[in-house]
Amino acid sequence: MKFSGVLSALTLAGAVAAKPGTKYPTTIVAGIEVVDTQIVRDARELIEVFNDLQPYLYKHLHRTWLFAAAIFNANETLKNSIDLEFHAVGSLLHDLGWDMRPNSPYVTQLDRFEVDSGVAAVNWVKEYVKENKCFAKKWNNVARLEKLYDGIALQTEQSIRRFGIPWPPRPRIPEDDYQSIIAAYPNDYLFRGSNITFTYLAATKPTGTYNTFLQDFGVHYVPGYDPSGKTFFDLIQEGAEGETKLHPNATLTS
Ligand SMILES: *[C@@H]1O[C@H](CO)[C@@H](O)[C@H](O)[C@H]1NC(C)=O
Ligand SMILES: *[C@@H]1O[C@H](CO)[C@@H](O)[C@H](O)[C@H]1NC(C)=O
Ligand SMILES: *[C@@H]1O[C@H](CO)[C@@H](O)[C@H](O)[C@H]1NC(C)=O
Repeated sequence: MKFSGVLSALTLAGAVAAKPGTKYPTTIVAGIEVVDTQIVRDARELIEVFNDLQPYLYKHLHRTWLFAAAIFNANETLKNSIDLEFHAVGSLLHDLGWDMRPNSPYVTQLDRFEVDSGVAAVNWVKEYVKENKCFAKKWNNVARLEKLYDGIALQTEQSIRRFGIPWPPRPRIPEDDYQSIIAAYPNDYLFRGSNITFTYLAATKPTGTYNTFLQDFGVHYVPGYDPSGKTFFDLIQEGAEGETKLHPNATLTS
């Protein structure tokens, strides 16, 4: 799985939601100049809990944000077409559905983690603007929240994410920036950590994993996990059999 996919989904969403020319205060994180508004600081604060619990996730969220910020910084045209605050919040919160706390406020039984993550991010913003009214005008906006949700929920749809976005991202990250980000937020355990998280989700919320790529983790590693009858393949087969009974003489051109 290519984890940089989220970068383009959120870039797309950020571009659509952009107010060109918006200038934000900035700070330096891992050597990269990034937007530094209160909502971004508080989004970072929200995921601080994962630094202890799931450090591979914490680092992944930061790398996701910073890789894209480095790409934007290196290209004025791109930078001016992206809402950097929107992008920061979206990328920092894009995997809340990986939360492995047993009583996670983000993880549901029924929805796949991408949906849990999108809903959690939107809910966090909605609550946030109630307390921080100066952000409400901009963020309490249905179209903006939908874009936030879409950018996060579509993050693993590999065939969708590339639309309109230059690909691949890696050559567009200046090498010094890449090394600086990797030094601050090392990428040494992401795949193993993901394997553990995805297996955990398949075990603890199987319904939310059937018919998604997490199903493979359940099938391989979770005793008793059984997606049969739950997949689109099964749905189509059952439908075709029922249809044959009802309309036996119908043909491809009927
Ligand atoms: C900057 O980004 C724009 C939009 O993606 C792209 O068309 C252009 O080629 C980029 N410029 C450079 C120098 O990479
Ligand atoms: C992935 O996780 C499963 C379940 O914990 C484990 O059995 C397996 O060895 C892991 N795979 C790798 C390649 O680490
Ligand atoms: C299907 O075609 C057969 C043979 O022409 C016919 O006997 C039968 O009544 C048809 N069935 C339906 C449901 O139309």
